[in-house]
Amino acid sequence: MTLNNPQLPSKSMTHHHTHEAIQTILAVFRERGHEEYHGEPVSQLEHAAQTAQLAQRGHPDDTEFILAAFLHDFGHLCGTTPEDNMGGYGTRQHETIGARELRRLGFSEKIARLVEGHVQAKRYLVSTDAAYYAGLSEASKITLEKQGGLMSAEEQRDFEQDTLFEWHLQLRRLDEQAKVSGQPVGDLGWLEVLMREHLEPAV
Ligand SMILES: [Fe+2]
Repeated sequence: MTLNNPQLPSKSMTHHHTHEAIQTILAVFRERGHEEYHGEPVSQLEHAAQTAQLAQRGHPDDTEFILAAFLHDFGHLCGTTPEDNMGGYGTRQHETIGARELRRLGFSEKIARLVEGHVQAKRYLVSTDAAYYAGLSEASKITLEKQGGLMSAEEQRDFEQDTLFEWHLQLRRLDEQAKVSGQPVGDLGWLEVLMREHLEPAV
């Protein structure tokens, strides 16, 4: 018989895990954030920070949306083998890799699903919105083919049934905007605070 209920991690254990998870994220950005955002005029870290800033501007109280924006390309920074790399255009299936890694680190299902859906959202938008396609960068048009190209009508209908459908599209539109070169990244402390709030359940 034990006094500790194994179902309930102690507060200190939760804090420990939160700390580790945040350090893991920050270390990955520190090590690889300077890498080019595949054929775009910004680095991975600049792109992530700009996407988060845009999300924060539109939805200042939605921590999960802001963190999904910040971490949507995290999977690009997790891929290691050359065959994962689509000819310099990033990690194949980076959305799945990123979502898996974020779930493992304790991020919510909503965040993981938004990360997982951002490539499908691009495929949906190019299939349904000619202006969106016209506005895509050259690099993004090239990766589109490697990511499955246009969606069939059936795939579109399936995607529209996703409970996060509107959020997927919103995140994707911010993703395309967050490629402004020469914009300072600024202090990431506010994102660290949001990650801590999100990962530490209220006790
Ligand atoms: Fe992106």
